[in-house]
Amino acid sequence: MINEQYERMLGAKNIIRVLSEFATERGREIGYDNVFDYSLGNPSVPAPEAFTKEMIRLLEEEDPMALHGYSPTLGNPLFKERIAESLNRRFGMNYTAGHIFPTTGAAGAVAHAVRAVTKPGDRVLTFAPYFPEYNPYVTGAGLTLEVVPADREAFQINFDAFEEMLGDDVAAVLINTPNNPSGAVYTEETLTRLAAMLTDASKKYGHTVFLLSDEPYREIVFDGMAAPYVSKYYDHTLSCYSFSKSLSLPGERIGYVAVNPACEKAEVIVPMCGQISRGLGHNCPPSLIQIAVAGCTDAVSDLSVYETNRNLLYEALTRLGYSVVKPGGTFYILPKAMEEDSVAFCEKAKDYDLILVPADGFGAPGYFRMAYCIDTDKVRRSIPALERFTKEVYGC
Ligand SMILES: Cc1ncc(COP(=O)(O)O)c(C=O)c1O
Repeated sequence: MINEQYERMLGAKNIIRVLSEFATERGREIGYDNVFDYSLGNPSVPAPEAFTKEMIRLLEEEDPMALHGYSPTLGNPLFKERIAESLNRRFGMNYTAGHIFPTTGAAGAVAHAVRAVTKPGDRVLTFAPYFPEYNPYVTGAGLTLEVVPADREAFQINFDAFEEMLGDDVAAVLINTPNNPSGAVYTEETLTRLAAMLTDASKKYGHTVFLLSDEPYREIVFDGMAAPYVSKYYDHTLSCYSFSKSLSLPGERIGYVAVNPACEKAEVIVPMCGQISRGLGHNCPPSLIQIAVAGCTDAVSDLSVYETNRNLLYEALTRLGYSVVKPGGTFYILPKAMEEDSVAFCEKAKDYDLILVPADGFGAPGYFRMAYCIDTDKVRRSIPALERFTKEVYGC
């Protein structure tokens, strides 16, 4: 008999993919340039030149046996050293190569991290609004994912609701800052309070409650600010990073888990990830991409377009009367829909060739997400369509 759990998953449609396919289809009719497609979180800027040059240099000059051979089980030593060095320099940490485990993006990082610090049957808490793929990452490990209701004022943390949901069987808390879909960046105050509550809960329940910090948007922060480095606030933190967004390399599948050196059992977590990998058939990202990224750990794509787009959309949305928290980073914005049913709202927007994603699946019913990783010219051209839609359908 085939696996019923996975077969059941086939029935659940991914709304983002459905909308993206609709946008492509509509593009065939009227030209994709005329479709204001805010569905997918695919970076819209190319990888930096430093990365391209490094790839070319490696292929021309380096030993093909090293570039294309098997990666060591726990990752390429140069990649691990360079990541540790970069994090230590930038965030005042004291990682060694032994605390870094290369993964296939943030997806691979979360899938490993969550398995390393839980056992089947445990609960994992996350905060709305949240990235819907946490469901398969967490439930696939035999765990239950529970979502703490949102703080709708600022999309920080609803601490009262969090306190009520904590319990003996909560093994880990999974956060995402800067956040997909809200664009909110957790403040120092939020992280300090979260750390205090995790410390108290660990004492009360007699076991460490681990913090899993999913941070693929760490480098996309606006207004000259930087995102506080989560692991600085709580020792028992596993940071899950990806180069998908900062280097615009989502197809290359490269990221890592960084285990705080002061975390409980820090010395065995990376070797354990190697064992988890065997079970998942993951066995490290390709050697070539690990080596290439090791050569440009501090490079980033030109991320400035996202801030320009954020400014244009935030200004337009507030002017049109939308209730919206100003994103501090990422390339997402999460306004409140003009009617309670955000699915109906997004359906009506399609008539204006605006492809907006209802945020129900992100744990934020009544809101919609715009992924503004698109050309600025298109953002500008979409604003009159947004105006017409809002005025004609909702009279504002
Ligand atoms: C919050 C969040 N976590 C994890 C991921 C997965 O990232 P990756 O593609 O690097 O695996 C994404 C991708 O969009 C994301 O938005």
